[in-house]
Amino acid sequence: MSDTVLSNYTPMARDERTYDRKLKIGIIGTGWIAEAHIESYLHMPDVEVVAMADLIPGKAEKFAKQYGVEGVRFYPDHKALLAAEKELDGVSICTYNTTHAECAIAALEAGVNVLLEKPMTVTLEEAAELVRVEKASGKLLSIGFQPRMDVNMQMIKKIVESGELGEIYYIQTGGGRRRGIPNSTFIEKKTAGIGALGDIGCYSLDMVLNAIGYPKPLTITGYTSNFFGTNPATQYSDMYHTAEENAKRFNVDDFAAAFIRLEGGIILDFRIAWAMHLDTPGDTVILGKKGALRIPSTECWNGTVGGPMKLYHDVAGEQVVTEIPIIPMGEPGLFDRKIRSFLDAILNHTPAPVPTSQILYNQAIIDGICKSAEVGHEIEIQIPEI
Ligand SMILES: NC(=O)c1ccc[n+]([C@@H]2O[C@H](COP(=O)([O-])OP(=O)(O)OC[C@H]3O[C@@H](n4cnc5c(N)ncnc54)[C@H](O)[C@@H]3O)[C@@H](O)[C@H]2O)c1
Repeated sequence: MSDTVLSNYTPMARDERTYDRKLKIGIIGTGWIAEAHIESYLHMPDVEVVAMADLIPGKAEKFAKQYGVEGVRFYPDHKALLAAEKELDGVSICTYNTTHAECAIAALEAGVNVLLEKPMTVTLEEAAELVRVEKASGKLLSIGFQPRMDVNMQMIKKIVESGELGEIYYIQTGGGRRRGIPNSTFIEKKTAGIGALGDIGCYSLDMVLNAIGYPKPLTITGYTSNFFGTNPATQYSDMYHTAEENAKRFNVDDFAAAFIRLEGGIILDFRIAWAMHLDTPGDTVILGKKGALRIPSTECWNGTVGGPMKLYHDVAGEQVVTEIPIIPMGEPGLFDRKIRSFLDAILNHTPAPVPTSQILYNQAIIDGICKSAEVGHEIEIQIPEI
C-alpha cells in the first residue's frame, strides 16, 4: 500500500507557463491572514496586486510597504474599493468572520471573482444568501480551506472512494488544543460571530465530509461552552489587553461538541476545543462495513493529518492493520497551492476549487450546533432554498 501511495504523489511542477497578461487582484482586509495571501500572490508570476482596503486608517498602506508592493491603490473599506476598481480579476477577502457575507456579496455583485477566507460565513442564512448571489452573478467563489491542498488529506478521500472501507456508517472527528485561544478579533461575537467552531471546527468537518462526498446534514444535538476563554486564569494578555480584559471580551465558544445525523444513515460525532484540560479529544476515525481508518490528530489542532494513518481491515479472514505513511509535501506550500488553484480557476473558467455547494453544509452544521446548543435539544437542519 505504502509504495502505491508514494508513487502516486508527484510534486507540483514549478510554474513555467508564460502568461498573456497579469491578473489584477485586490485584498480586502489586511490583517494577519492577509499576510499569507500577499506572500503567495507575490510568488505568482501572473499576478499584480493593485488594490487593498482596510477599515483601520493607514493599515493597508503599512501592509503594502511591509511587503514592498508598489503601485497599490488604497481604500477605507470594501465598498470604496469595489466602487473604484473596475478591472479586477479577483479579490481575496481576509476580513473577520462577521463581514465575510457582506464583503463577498458586494464583490460578486460588482462582477469580481472571490477567494473568501474560512469559515464561509457565521450563520447558515448568510451562507445561503451568498450562494444565491454567487449563482446570479456567474462569478467564481471559492472558500479558503487550504488543508484541502494537502496530499495527505486527499489520501483520506482516495481511500474512502477506493471502497477499502466499504459503506461508511460512523465518523468521529474534531480536534483540540490544551491551550490555543487566538487573540484579537477571534474572541468577540461582533467580529468573529463564532469561536473555535468557526476557526478550527470547520477544518475537522471538511476533512471528513469532503472525503465522503458532503452528504446533507439532517439533525444535530449540539453543545457549546466557553469556560476557558472567560476565565482570566486561563486567558492571555496581549499588546492591547490584560488577561482580565480579554476574559471579559470573550463571548464566543471555546469548546463545542455535537452528534449529527447525515443523509445515508451516517453518524458524525464531533468535538472541537481551543482550550481544555486534555491534549486532544481523540483521533479522527472513519468506520465502514469493510474497514476503518484512524487519522491521528495534530497536537495543536490545525486541520491537518497528525501522523501516519492506519487502515484496519480483514485480509483472507485475518485482522490486518496497514500503515499509510505521511506523504512529504515540499514546495509549493499549502497557501501557494490554494492561491494558485483560485487563479487557475479564473484563467480556465473552471469550477471553484472549494465550492460553496459543499461548504454550505459545513456552515449548516456549525449553525446547527449553535442553534441546538441555545435551545438545549436536538434540532432538524433546514437548508434554505437557494
Ligand atoms: N486559512 C487560514 O489558515 C486562516 C488562518 C487565520 C485566519 N483565517 C481567517 O481569516 C479571517 C481574518 O483573520 P485575521 O486573523 O486576519 O483577522 P484580523 O482581525 O487580523 O484582520 C481582519 C482585517 O479585516 C479588516 N476588515 C474588516 N472588515 C472590513 C471591511 N468591510 N473592509 C475592509 N477591511 C475590513 C479589519 O480592519 C482587520 O484589519 C478570519 O475569517 C479567519 O477565520 C484563516
